[in-house]
Amino acid sequence: MTTIALQVNRRAVELSAEPRTSLADFVRDKLDLTGTHLGCEHGVCGACTVLLDGVPARSCITYAAACEGADVTTIEGLDEDEVTTELRAAFTREHALQCGYCTPGMLVSARDLVLRLPDADERRIRVGLSGNLCRCTGYVGIVRAVQSVIEARRARNIAPLADGGRTSLGPVGSGRAAPGRSESRPALQTLALASENATPGSIPDFIPATVLDQRFTLAHPPAKVFAMFDDIAAIAACLPGVSLKSPPSPERVEGLIRVRLGPIAASFEGAARVERDPATLSGRIIGIGTDQRSHSATQGEIRYRLLPLDDGAATAVELSIGYTLTGLPAQVGRPGLVRDLARRLVADFAANLDRHISGVPSEARAPAELSFWSIVSDVLRARIARILGRRSGAG
Ligand code: FES
Ligand code: FES
Repeated sequence: MTTIALQVNRRAVELSAEPRTSLADFVRDKLDLTGTHLGCEHGVCGACTVLLDGVPARSCITYAAACEGADVTTIEGLDEDEVTTELRAAFTREHALQCGYCTPGMLVSARDLVLRLPDADERRIRVGLSGNLCRCTGYVGIVRAVQSVIEARRARNIAPLADGGRTSLGPVGSGRAAPGRSESRPALQTLALASENATPGSIPDFIPATVLDQRFTLAHPPAKVFAMFDDIAAIAACLPGVSLKSPPSPERVEGLIRVRLGPIAASFEGAARVERDPATLSGRIIGIGTDQRSHSATQGEIRYRLLPLDDGAATAVELSIGYTLTGLPAQVGRPGLVRDLARRLVADFAANLDRHISGVPSEARAPAELSFWSIVSDVLRARIARILGRRSGAG
């Protein structure tokens, strides 16, 4: 158990909770603030959205312990809020809810839009609310309600609040720690700075927060595979979402990796240091990158070792992928899911590598964007097939 001190709905709260307790469970179970709903518990549906230091955040994937010193506002804390009152009336008028399960999260996100975007049109509102799913209404009434509040406030000459009234940003997604928790932000700053100033040889070693070990085999001799690992441009072409900014040098490579997770898109720009040891047929690629738009940063390391198989006719490739990610995309943190994603990525990488070494022209290059959603759908499909397979096997 750990003691967590924070403000919830302008009230100082100090309670103990397990370090793994989510903010959603914390406010619901410990404070009885059950207006915060839980839908997917994966950061996808937005039902659990609360304000964290004024910023909408998914409370199902936010650790309560990470909110030490933060200012949390749940839907109950917006009872007297002027904009939320207008929105509630508009939702009623426009029939913007049916079962109401999505409504608390929808109101929290809509309030943020109203405060920040006085000129938002229908498209902008739809984009702004795309992180909140509603299974009942078809969204028309919701969009109409939000638009009517924006128009009414514009007609009354109510100026937007710069940045939605944010004063300090919370630890989730914003990259800025709440007062008293200064260590989170410097971590991101250090990463960003290191990436911006990265000069040859200056990419630092680091201890990855997550390490995934993968192994696959290729029907090619180790020397041929090792030569392929020396061709950084070819390796990059085999990695989904990766592109190079300039021709790589033997020790250093500059490039871009594009990642998309539903409405969250990040484009990490950075550099990597390449090390290889022909004596042990092994090597290491250490990279660092930042995404200015989502204020995310990542450090990653790929270690590989090639082992001969079948008297040297084939190669076992042992990969160890380590990374530390901060910012919005870091919210995809379910270890089981991340492991499945890594397995799928490595499988794609191995298939591309095999095609490349075999000289098979591939019509489909590695995708220009690493879409977690398409990978997640494939992973889920595979998991369901596995479960059904098990059941039919049992029956
Ligand atoms: S419960 Fe769905 S995003 Fe949190
Ligand atoms: S009103 Fe039912 S989920 Fe939105």
